[in-house]
Amino acid sequence: MNIINIEHIAKIYQVGSEEVHALRDVSLNIEKGEYVAIMGPSGSGKSTLMNILGCLDTPTKGLYNFTGVNVSQMNDNELANIRNKEIGFVFQTFNLLPRSDALHNVELPLIYAGISSHERKDKARLALDHVGLNDRMHHKPNELSGGQRQRVAIARALVTQPAIILADEPTGNLDTKTGEDIMALFNEIYEQGNTIILVTHEEYIAEHAERIIRIRDGMIEKDEHVKDRYIPKKNGFSKAD
Ligand SMILES: Nc1ncnc2c1ncn2[C@@H]1O[C@H](COP(=O)(O)OP(=O)(O)O)[C@@H](O)[C@H]1O
Ligand SMILES: [Mg+2]
Repeated sequence: MNIINIEHIAKIYQVGSEEVHALRDVSLNIEKGEYVAIMGPSGSGKSTLMNILGCLDTPTKGLYNFTGVNVSQMNDNELANIRNKEIGFVFQTFNLLPRSDALHNVELPLIYAGISSHERKDKARLALDHVGLNDRMHHKPNELSGGQRQRVAIARALVTQPAIILADEPTGNLDTKTGEDIMALFNEIYEQGNTIILVTHEEYIAEHAERIIRIRDGMIEKDEHVKDRYIPKKNGFSKAD
């Protein structure tokens, strides 16, 4: 099943009298269940592409069909609706509410979706359990380690059962070992049938994916399957970390 279909998109930013061509003629398809990394040097257009893929912004030209729906010309409200239902975001900086505990952070997308309190709590608990945090439900972000914070963010991304998980440098703020634990979790989520799009500038992180799309100067330079992808070992989350 096709999740992402992009046809000849371009994104031009108007800066004063100057036009910045951040993306030029990008076409790509992503099917359900794929694990894709997007790589490219600084300024190549990764964030611009992420913002469009994540329905945070629309292209200047071209077509974007997301789960068969043309989102290219949608307004902010319509895009927000799609994002909340269909896209799970994971950011480098976790982006959790500092004053809320893990459970409430994970419940949040379900509040926006209008789901009852009882059902919300059940789903949020299940999602936290899924990422190995059933004993940390009532901890606030500053009472959790970096890896645990990112796992809360991943639980929050998964709780709505979105069509895609969009992760922007998810290991960027973590030490190597903790980063590996997070990549092991992404691998598990992928093996369970989820569609993952990972933006990274690190080759070894990208090699966890089964496909790498390389962009340069706003164009796709290379789009290839990873022959020998790196499969992290399952770590059975320890309570100490
Ligand atoms: N909001 C913006 N307004 C103007 N120019 C922008 C804006 N965002 C990005 N750009 C420009 O578009 C190009 C691609 O940027 P970006 O997508 O952020 O690349 P990357 O994430 O790969 O570093 C760069 O030349 C950048 O300066
Ligand atoms: Mg960027």
